[in-house]
Amino acid sequence: MEKIPPRLTSNPILPQESSEAGVVTSVLFSFSPLAIKTRQDSNARPLPQADVASTLVAGVEQSKRITKPKSICTIAVQLTTTTKQNMPANTKKDDPMPFVYVRSKDHAWVPARVLESDGKVATVIVQKYKNEEEMLLNAAKTAGITVQQQVVQLKDYDSGVLPMQNVDDRGKLGDFEDMVNLPYLHEAAILYNIKNRHMKGLPYTRTGDMIVAVNPYKWFDHLYTEKQRKTYAKKLVWDNSESDPRNYLSPHVYETSALAYKGMSFDKQNQSILVSGESGAGKTETVKICMNHLANVQEGPTTGSSSSTKDSSLIVQRVLDSNPLLEAFGNAQTRRNDNSSRFGKYTQLQFDRRGEVGRPVAKLAGSICEPYLLEKNRVINHDSQERTFHIFYQLLAAPEDAKACVWSGLKGKRNADFKYVGATQTTMIEGVSDGDQFLRTTKVLSLIGLGDKVIREFLRALCVVLQLGNLTFGAPGGDADKSECISSKELAGLAKLMDLPESDLSVALTERTMKTKDESYKVPLDPAMARDSADALAKEIYGKLFLWLVNAINKATSAEANYSGGKNKNFGIIGLLDIFGFESFEVNRFEQLCINYANEKLQQKFTEDIFRSVQAEYKMEGVPLAEIKYDDNTDVLDLIEGRTGLCAMLNEECVRPKGSGFGFVNKALAGNRKSPCLVPDMTDRMCFGIKHYAGKVFYNAENFVASNQDTLPTDLQDCASKCSNRLICAAFQEEPDEMPRRGSSKETPKRLRSNIMAPTVWTKYKGQLSHLMTNLRSTNSRYIRCIKPNTLKKPGLMEHNTTVEQLRYAGIVAGVTISRSAFPNRLSNTVVYARYNGMWEKRQYPSVKSRSMSIAEQVKADCEAVLTCALKTKESLEKGGRTVKAFVVGKTRTYFRAGALEYLESQRITGLDAQATAIQKAIRGWLIRKDQIKAAKKKVEDAALAIQAEKERKERLAREKKEREARHLQEMKGYYLEIQALKKRLQEADEDGTRRVEAAKRREEQARQQRDELQSKVHDHDNKTKSEMERLKIRYAANLKLIQQLKKENKKAHKALGKDESIWKDADKRYKRLSHINHESATTFDGLEGDASSVAASNQRLLDKREEALEVNMNLKDKVRKLQSQYMDVAEQRLELQKTMAKILNTIQDGCKDKTLVEHVFCVGHECETESKCLIAKLEIEEAPYDLVMSDTSDSTRLSSSMDLSQISLKYV
Ligand SMILES: Nc1ncnc2c1ncn2[C@@H]1O[C@H](COP(=O)(O)OP(=O)(O)O)[C@@H](O)[C@H]1O
Ligand SMILES: [Mg+2]
Repeated sequence: MEKIPPRLTSNPILPQESSEAGVVTSVLFSFSPLAIKTRQDSNARPLPQADVASTLVAGVEQSKRITKPKSICTIAVQLTTTTKQNMPANTKKDDPMPFVYVRSKDHAWVPARVLESDGKVATVIVQKYKNEEEMLLNAAKTAGITVQQQVVQLKDYDSGVLPMQNVDDRGKLGDFEDMVNLPYLHEAAILYNIKNRHMKGLPYTRTGDMIVAVNPYKWFDHLYTEKQRKTYAKKLVWDNSESDPRNYLSPHVYETSALAYKGMSFDKQNQSILVSGESGAGKTETVKICMNHLANVQEGPTTGSSSSTKDSSLIVQRVLDSNPLLEAFGNAQTRRNDNSSRFGKYTQLQFDRRGEVGRPVAKLAGSICEPYLLEKNRVINHDSQERTFHIFYQLLAAPEDAKACVWSGLKGKRNADFKYVGATQTTMIEGVSDGDQFLRTTKVLSLIGLGDKVIREFLRALCVVLQLGNLTFGAPGGDADKSECISSKELAGLAKLMDLPESDLSVALTERTMKTKDESYKVPLDPAMARDSADALAKEIYGKLFLWLVNAINKATSAEANYSGGKNKNFGIIGLLDIFGFESFEVNRFEQLCINYANEKLQQKFTEDIFRSVQAEYKMEGVPLAEIKYDDNTDVLDLIEGRTGLCAMLNEECVRPKGSGFGFVNKALAGNRKSPCLVPDMTDRMCFGIKHYAGKVFYNAENFVASNQDTLPTDLQDCASKCSNRLICAAFQEEPDEMPRRGSSKETPKRLRSNIMAPTVWTKYKGQLSHLMTNLRSTNSRYIRCIKPNTLKKPGLMEHNTTVEQLRYAGIVAGVTISRSAFPNRLSNTVVYARYNGMWEKRQYPSVKSRSMSIAEQVKADCEAVLTCALKTKESLEKGGRTVKAFVVGKTRTYFRAGALEYLESQRITGLDAQATAIQKAIRGWLIRKDQIKAAKKKVEDAALAIQAEKERKERLAREKKEREARHLQEMKGYYLEIQALKKRLQEADEDGTRRVEAAKRREEQARQQRDELQSKVHDHDNKTKSEMERLKIRYAANLKLIQQLKKENKKAHKALGKDESIWKDADKRYKRLSHINHESATTFDGLEGDASSVAASNQRLLDKREEALEVNMNLKDKVRKLQSQYMDVAEQRLELQKTMAKILNTIQDGCKDKTLVEHVFCVGHECETESKCLIAKLEIEEAPYDLVMSDTSDSTRLSSSMDLSQISLKYV
């Protein structure tokens, strides 16, 4: 068996063990003295009152680490004094106020901190939260948040103790992947742990082997990738690891599927995965996720594409495809869930465990589905905000031609046209429209091997159900005891659809055949009863169609029918149970009792399994198994299914002629007075209550009898079995409500003919359940508990009250309590020895360890001795005189009974207190001595320092004096040398002065001589100047005369100049005009120049053309010349002719006497001449173009030629 016992690993958020002062803290956190039991009636053992103090101490320890050697008792005292004061609104991070949870009407549990407690009443502070989303304790964030004080009665809490929060020393809530490791394990701790994870987007949490799956209402792609699937398969199935891979894998439903596969294939043990939870919690999704994973795991460690893999993937595809088909017929929209499964199903995946060489591999070979408790009532009735089964909406949303092909009565019909369906606001389920879904459904029907005919027949059968809803009945002739169908058109339609005579159908619906031993007679039904008959028939037909469909699916998917050699094989099974969870509504009816009964059955198995896992752990640790005690629910099951239980009583009431709910309740209460689980309802005798494992539920028995009977009258059965629809007909000829068979339907149908003998719903259901339980018991079960975190279907939000309710219903709290029932606390042996060996009196309680033992055994022996000594006072005597110790030392762990660990802690704290005081004393003495020695040492050091300083000062002064003297000497030497140098320079200056005076005297003498010479020269010069002056005077006089003369000349010239000036002005004007004209002409010239250049260019072009023309001309000239010569020839001929003519004319003129003839001849001659002139003119015209081009060159030629002609003509004239 692949079973890993719950692990006690180190707590990730709390301080770990060490040899220093911090050990005190860690020790206090690794157990759960305050874990509570949630069932009020459970046999929880009360903890000693002293626990309150230890709780408070624990709280202090949590929020305050010991940094100085200080007595723990001092801290406890400090707590008392601090908590007596009124705490400010802004609490400090290191306030020693324990972190607890208190009950809240609106939010189940809210985080709080204890201000003070007297053991009976505690004053706590609770933060004010805006909503539940905010309500995750984070003590470090309390600053600035409004808090309010609240007084709580401790007797309202289990063992009179407030449940502690799992927070670290900063008050931060821990995140535990496995709730077995929660230091404080109780309902509030579980709630806040899963809530914390849910808000972080972590939907899965472990509790030992069980997975708690909170519906995230948001698809997290990263959680379901191929890589994730492979990782879980590899680590949990294919890798052979010594350690538990779950220590490093995050919790996931893949671990459940992987471990199930491993158990089935490696340990050869059939497995089941039980998925439970309320509607909308995510059961069906989870089952699909697991199925997909199992299909992936079976591919093996390396995905190959062998033919066997392909075969099995076909089967996998069929298995997976069958899910939406079942959903179309078995799911409906409810207020809680748009796609709510209205039936339970147990899908058994069949694996071929033949295996391959060296590796036990199991290959998926097929699947079988067993449905449970289809909510048939939904066919005829549903809440206005809900819908009936999806298939009806799909059929009515189908394309019109498809509808007409199924049944002409469907043509043009809408949902509202059928009473069982009615108008709906939703036409899309999970993003797919009803119309599209219809096409998918019919496609899958074909995929599972149904032919078109069968599918049509199947859909026509659904039409029968729809049409039955539209029949209306009335009282014929006012006779209210009888009835007749008054919707004749609808009846006719139905009769045609079923291919039955209208009258037969009408009679079957409005009358009932009663049979006695010897005779049978008919009883008329009133209109209401007739309507009930129609409803009953509709429900029955739908129920049978559903079973037929499941059978068809099984035929297509079962390994027996589809896998080669499948009939003779013993397949490995992994069953997946998707079944409704525990239900408790305002009014609970027969259906709720059935569902809760199933849940009690499953809970029984769950507790057994947990018990087994605890047993396995104890066995492994060598702890006596007799120690495990737990509450089971056999009393509830006895009450329901026992010999005089509710089931038997109800069946009895159903066979009584006038059986009623009232009668059933009376009988049930009378027959089960002693049952601790049956609770009478004092206010309503139609009601009774049952104390279920998940809580008390009151049921209203009003419709119990009718619901339990739910058997179809034989009239209707007979009528239906005659129906032309092969599916309906066959279904009604078979045993009623037969369980789907494995791939074959060839058993002989049996018919039940009596209402009295018909098994009740309850009996059938009980049989189904016990069959399921037998199935499950033959497997190793694994659990997935689905939780619906809020009713708004909103991601990230968790509503406390409904979640806590589900935690209870799912048995999660009960489950963890069982695992801690006998010994609520456990510590590893090494920790026990390290922490409590100070309390061990070795001589009195010697250890039995020996050298031959292993280290673990030696530690175990030491722990035994330590704890026997430390927990002596906690020993008790059994009736037989046997001493019962408060602990059991296992191979690696020590298990403590309730209160034992708390006692040890309090004792150790007292012991530590004395030890701490002694340590403090020694340390203080040592500290003072240390200070004194330090002070004396300092004095000596100071004196030595002073002496040293004086010595250094003197040395420094002497050194400075010496340096000064040396410096003086050096300076004197410098001065002497300077004086010597100055003397030398003085002497040199004297000598230089004498030399200079002598030179000056010489220069004076020379200057005197030069002066004299110059004076004589000046004298000579003066003389010369005087004579020159004379000469100049003469010249001046002459010049003066000349000037006078010139002046006169000048005056004359001046006059002449006046005249020239006017001429000059004139010239100037002209000049200006000329220059202006010049300027303009320059401009014009520029323009002309431009023109000239363009003219030149065009000239050039013309020249070029001329060249060309000349060439042409030359050619033409040649031509002309030729023509001219021709012309000349012609002209000459003509001339000759004219001459001849003239001669003729002259001759005629001269010779002829007939004047008329002469005249006539003359005219002819004239005409000839005119003609010849015209010819000449024409020739000239033809010649003209040539003349133009050759004008310059051939003018003379032309002229001469024309001249010749005129001469000719003149001559002629
Ligand atoms: N693992 C999941 N991840 C995302 N959404 C989920 C998951 N499980 C359930 N849901 C959502 O919750 C809805 C209800 O789930 P379903 O499995 O039909 O509930 P149940 O079968 O318990 O009634 C789904 O339609 C889907 O939207
Ligand atoms: Mg479902």
